Amino acid sequence: MTIETDDDLEALKKIGQIVAECLRTMLGAIRPGMTTLELDEIGERFLLSKGARSAPRLDYAFPGSTCISINEQVAHGIPGDRIIQPGDLVNVDVSAELNGYYGDTGGSIGVAPVPELAQKVCVATRAARDRAIDSLRAGDRLSVIGRAIEKQAKASGLRIVRNLCSHGVGRKLHEPPEAILPYYSPREHRTVRYGDVITIEPFLTTGREAVEEASDGWTLLNERGSWTAQYEHTLVITRGRPLIMTA
Ligand code: CO
Ligand code: CO
Repeated sequence: MTIETDDDLEALKKIGQIVAECLRTMLGAIRPGMTTLELDEIGERFLLSKGARSAPRLDYAFPGSTCISINEQVAHGIPGDRIIQPGDLVNVDVSAELNGYYGDTGGSIGVAPVPELAQKVCVATRAARDRAIDSLRAGDRLSVIGRAIEKQAKASGLRIVRNLCSHGVGRKLHEPPEAILPYYSPREHRTVRYGDVITIEPFLTTGREAVEEASDGWTLLNERGSWTAQYEHTLVITRGRPLIMTA
C-alpha cells in the first residue's frame, strides 16, 4: 500500500509495534528443550492479547500463528513437536493484522552455545537488511535493495538465498510490489514512491542459493548443516531514511 493519510501511518505503526514486540517476546523466551509449538503459543497469546490476528493464518490458512524455522529450515517452518536444542539457529517470523492493516517482521537468534559461523551469519544478515534500508529513498529503483544486500553478502563471504524476496505489505501480507529481489538485477525498473510500504528481508546463508519446499507443503529447506539467517522490517518510504514500522 501507499500511505495516504496520517491515520494510515498511525495504524501501520500500531500493528508494526505489536509484531515487533511479539517477536522480541518470542526470541527472548527461547530455551533449549521447548518445542516450536510452545514457542508459537507464546506468540499466539501475545497477538490475541492485542486483538491482532496472525497474518499467515488469515491470508494463507498457515497451520500456526507464526513461522518458526530451525537450522536447515530457512522459512515458513510450521510450529510443532520439534525440540529446540543447544546450538540451534532459530528464525521467528511474525506478521499480523489489526483493523485492516498488516505488519511483518522477523529475526534469527542462536541458542547457546552459539556456533561461531551461525553468529557470523546473523550479524551479516542484519547488516545487509540495515544497509538496504539505509540506501533506499523515494524515487529509487527497487534494485537498490538487492545491490545493498549483495554488497554485504560479498563483504561477509556469504551467499544470498535468491528465491526468497521482499514485498509490498499493508492491506494484505503480500501486495505489489511483489518479488523484490535480494540481489542486483539490471532488469528491475520498478521504483518506490513516497509513502510506499514494503518489507526488506534478506536471507544470507552458508548453504545453497535456492531453497526448496519440504513435503509438508510449507517449510523451505536448505542443505543439512548449513546456516541461514533472516531479519525483516516493515518500512515506509520517504525522501530521507525510511520510517521503520517494526523497530
Ligand atoms: Co515475515
Ligand atoms: Co515478509
